[in-house]
Amino acid sequence: MENSSVRFPANHQLRAGMVGVGMIFDETYRPFLEAVHRRPFFHPAYGSCQVALAGIASRTGKRAEAYQQVAHEKVAPFAILKEPNAIDQLLDIGVDFVCIATPDNRHFSAARAALAAGKHVLIEKPSVLSLQELDELVELARREKVLAKIVYHKLLDPDHKKLQTFVADGELCHVNNGYCNLLEPKAISGGQFSEWIEGRNPGTYVAVHYIKLIDFTFGGKLKTVSCTGQRGLVGAHDGPTWDSTQLRLVYEYESGREAAFDIHTSWVTPDNFPGWVEQEVQFRFDNGVWNGHSRRRGVECTIEGKTPLDIKITLNNHYSGTFLEPWGDRSHRGYGVEAIERFAHEVAMVEYGGDEADRDARLDEIRQLDYNELAADRQVVAAIEAMETILARRAEGIEDCIVRVNDKQGGLVLHTPGSAEAEVLYGPTV
Ligand SMILES: NC(=O)c1ccc[n+]([C@@H]2O[C@H](COP(=O)([O-])OP(=O)(O)OC[C@H]3O[C@@H](n4cnc5c(N)ncnc54)[C@H](O)[C@@H]3O)[C@@H](O)[C@H]2O)c1
Repeated sequence: MENSSVRFPANHQLRAGMVGVGMIFDETYRPFLEAVHRRPFFHPAYGSCQVALAGIASRTGKRAEAYQQVAHEKVAPFAILKEPNAIDQLLDIGVDFVCIATPDNRHFSAARAALAAGKHVLIEKPSVLSLQELDELVELARREKVLAKIVYHKLLDPDHKKLQTFVADGELCHVNNGYCNLLEPKAISGGQFSEWIEGRNPGTYVAVHYIKLIDFTFGGKLKTVSCTGQRGLVGAHDGPTWDSTQLRLVYEYESGREAAFDIHTSWVTPDNFPGWVEQEVQFRFDNGVWNGHSRRRGVECTIEGKTPLDIKITLNNHYSGTFLEPWGDRSHRGYGVEAIERFAHEVAMVEYGGDEADRDARLDEIRQLDYNELAADRQVVAAIEAMETILARRAEGIEDCIVRVNDKQGGLVLHTPGSAEAEVLYGPTV
């Protein structure tokens, strides 16, 4: 049975370090680490490989200690490293890769420290908040010959894989425009994320999923970014903290034709909403329309006293769910977990997938995988940096700014209505 502990040694082992142990740790990293502890993963190129959680770097150590209480033999014994210098302590205990799941604006410093120490890195979305930060991390990864990857698990959603397949095969031709919605419950802004919410917005937190889906699936050159938003629930109506945002991206394709995408996000949806999050897209092509609803995939369940608060009415059983398998095992699986597994496989390919002399060639090959490669995240980070700047200006009282990408003055240029002066946010080409 799958739940029994390992009875044979793995050929190889990778030691994992975790930075930040919040909601996403519980939903994806933890099920991956517990599953791989029971059963190493295999590939003909390297045989078997086990991943051991070596340590967790956490601000206060409280949530890591709570996990240690219940982890028992589900993972190998692991160290807990607390602030100050939690990340340096984690690097000192010896790890092969580091996963960074701290709040959005705290990814960069941990990623820089891990890459500079020569560790492979996996960063939660959004990777970083500026192109300057991205450049620094990409350069470090190149210098240290390690992977710098990002978790974009929506690209592994089977529905989005089908969309990618239709586009790649030319079944759906030239996207003209589309919309995406991702609405998070109040529990995120008022509870789980409330400690880090000051000055933040739901666009960076979740629109980034769809920015990546659009950028990766349709390609093209990002041309302009504009954004509006609303305040007054999570913070003051004229402050820097946003309840909801509406982002518009314009892309241009090789044909010279354009497409526009509107991405609406919020984190103030009532907690008694029938699903955990509302997720919907529509893309209109020359020859077709793609409608996707990630919440209403067909299941609707009512349980007295439980739905819709403890258990949701519309369940997403594809992202991260606990299941009784038909053969009797209990599992925790989904594309959220698969994204972490795939990164571990990519690290194993680099380190153990052939002769040491060919390591650089394997590294280059895995770096070509744009779906999770930090160096391929330029347009996504450009959109995030532009959105963050437009919202910050709005909080300062400057309305309706727009950012143009790769215009005559620079890579990322902020234009303010009524002003002849443009502000170059990033000089080099995006
Ligand atoms: N891939 C996804 O779909 C998905 C979903 C949710 C969250 N996320 C991302 O994951 C990240 C974490 O989100 P979450 O929902 O788990 O948040 P969370 O608030 O539940 O957890 C954040 C954790 O980071 C810790 N932390 C904060 N500052 C730290 C520091 N300097 N060093 C070490 N630990 C620190 C906190 O103590 C907390 O344990 C965010 O970037 C978020 O955007 C991704």
